[in-house]
Amino acid sequence: MSKLTVTVPDIGGAENVEIIEINVAVGDSVNADQDLLVLETDKATMEIPCPQAGKVQALLVKVGDKVSEGSAILELESADSADTEQNNAEQISAEPAAAAQEPAPAAPAAEINAGSAADSVESLIDLVVPDLGGASEVTVIELCARPGDTLSADDSLIVLESDKASMDIPAPQGGTLKELLINIGDKVKEGQVYGRLLTQEQPGSAASAQQTSAQPALNKAVENAPAPTAAAVSAVPVAAAPVVSETTNSAEKTDIHNVYAGPSSRRLARQLGVDLTKVKGTGDRSRITKDDIRDYVKALVKQAESGVAAVTSGAGIPAVPAVDFAQFGEIELQLMSKIKKVTAANMSRNWLNVPHVTQFDEADITDLDAFRASMKAEAEKQGVKLTPLPFLIKAAASALTLEPSFNVSLHHDGEHMVQKHYVHIGIACDTPNGLMVPVLRDADKKGIYQIAREASELIEKARNGKLKPNEMQGGCFTISSLGAMGGTGFTPIVNAPEVAIMGVSKAQIKPQWNGKEFVPRNMLPLAVSYDHRAINGADCGRFFTTLVALLSDVRRLIL
Ligand code: COA
Repeated sequence: MSKLTVTVPDIGGAENVEIIEINVAVGDSVNADQDLLVLETDKATMEIPCPQAGKVQALLVKVGDKVSEGSAILELESADSADTEQNNAEQISAEPAAAAQEPAPAAPAAEINAGSAADSVESLIDLVVPDLGGASEVTVIELCARPGDTLSADDSLIVLESDKASMDIPAPQGGTLKELLINIGDKVKEGQVYGRLLTQEQPGSAASAQQTSAQPALNKAVENAPAPTAAAVSAVPVAAAPVVSETTNSAEKTDIHNVYAGPSSRRLARQLGVDLTKVKGTGDRSRITKDDIRDYVKALVKQAESGVAAVTSGAGIPAVPAVDFAQFGEIELQLMSKIKKVTAANMSRNWLNVPHVTQFDEADITDLDAFRASMKAEAEKQGVKLTPLPFLIKAAASALTLEPSFNVSLHHDGEHMVQKHYVHIGIACDTPNGLMVPVLRDADKKGIYQIAREASELIEKARNGKLKPNEMQGGCFTISSLGAMGGTGFTPIVNAPEVAIMGVSKAQIKPQWNGKEFVPRNMLPLAVSYDHRAINGADCGRFFTTLVALLSDVRRLIL
């Protein structure tokens, strides 16, 4: 056993190349040729294989670090006992290139056709496969542009791939792609003309002058890309398993290291924050193309905007299949309002994220209702409509004050609870456009008349579409009353980040046993749903008992 320092092999002279993936961890046993790292330049990715079997003792780099030939990557405890004192950094650098690469030679001269435009020169230049760093043939795996496309300099034209590296070949300069002479799957060689680009330059301009020289901009691409790629092509041991065979035959892509995508696609995915394991590749052998990533993002944005995701799928749950309802009878499609779509998305989000428990109880509101009836005329004189709602708001606010374990939210860091020292109550409100939840602030500090007045103002604003965003924010607890509509009970969905909601159904006169006899009492069915991550059943029991007691004894409520 000996300890070795593995270094970056010959990467064709490329300097400061970024590490984009590290495929091993300290303690891992690795085989000779197993991929250790993936490096990426502007235009190419390359895998750095392990020079020999052993156990990773220490990682000397991290993702994002820049490395050059000779940079130390990791410490390896060699498994090869014969491999003792003779080992040195040179020997154990990952399989050096078969031959040192000379600087990439100039690409063949461009073929120039003078154009006829009076104010510019039109030239048809050959697009030539650049220096492949010794690889005799590489495969065309992606065509990034079509004839007729207008391109800027450095826009990707094609992607080539060898066993272990892929490279973008960019347009040498701006222009219109006239023709492509290759197809996906073709093998191409250095110097091969693979297309033609129609360029337009001002006479005498630098670019124009360059065109007529034997140094088309493609050389720039060669400098940028194929040099490291060339190294990657040659630096990879022949015995190493080709990336393609490891990745594309696997139907289930769960590991980012097994994703089959080129450097430009990987870069685009990183820029957009896309997890490539979730993208379906439509390229050759299921390779993920840039268009696949764009389509994936477009679909996500569309779903988020339309709320379709909310009504059809969520959290990895299979989507409800699309159904052609017209096959069963006459139908018409009605556009969902924005509020309906937002509600659908919110309901799905809350239903899927919040582990719900619902408890049920009944409050004896006989006295409260008698009191309310006795105050109705006076309230009306003051311009206030006294429905059960303001009493429910007041009772909920008092119960939240008395049982603060309900007046919380889960902190997004997953480490804290937010204990609120204010009491704002949301009122679920049925409006012509859909469900809205205005928030009545500081309900614990307000009297019944003021609550009634403010609640009806908020409800009216909600129904007229006049609510401001801040009038729908900051709720601690929501009341959803279907009492005017009927029903004996329902399970409301918690309005996250709140942790509880009360559903109110229609009060009914019911016989109640008073210890001696059954007496008719006005019973209000209530349901409290809560987020079981934040609230325990016992907390709910206490909160609910307090709430019911407050509603059953109007004197306590007023106090
Ligand atoms: N039991 C019996 N009667 C009730 C009642 C109850 N629980 N709640 C209200 N009523 C009565 C009221 O007293 C009133 O009658 P009155 O005029 O004779 O006094 C009548 O029903 C109408 O009340 P309403 O105007 O609807 O006022 P409200 O203050 O009770 O309710 C809203 C206001 C905004 C809560 C209600 O109109 C609403 O939109 N609810 C829908 C909530 C919803 O959609 N939630 C989502 C469900 S998941």
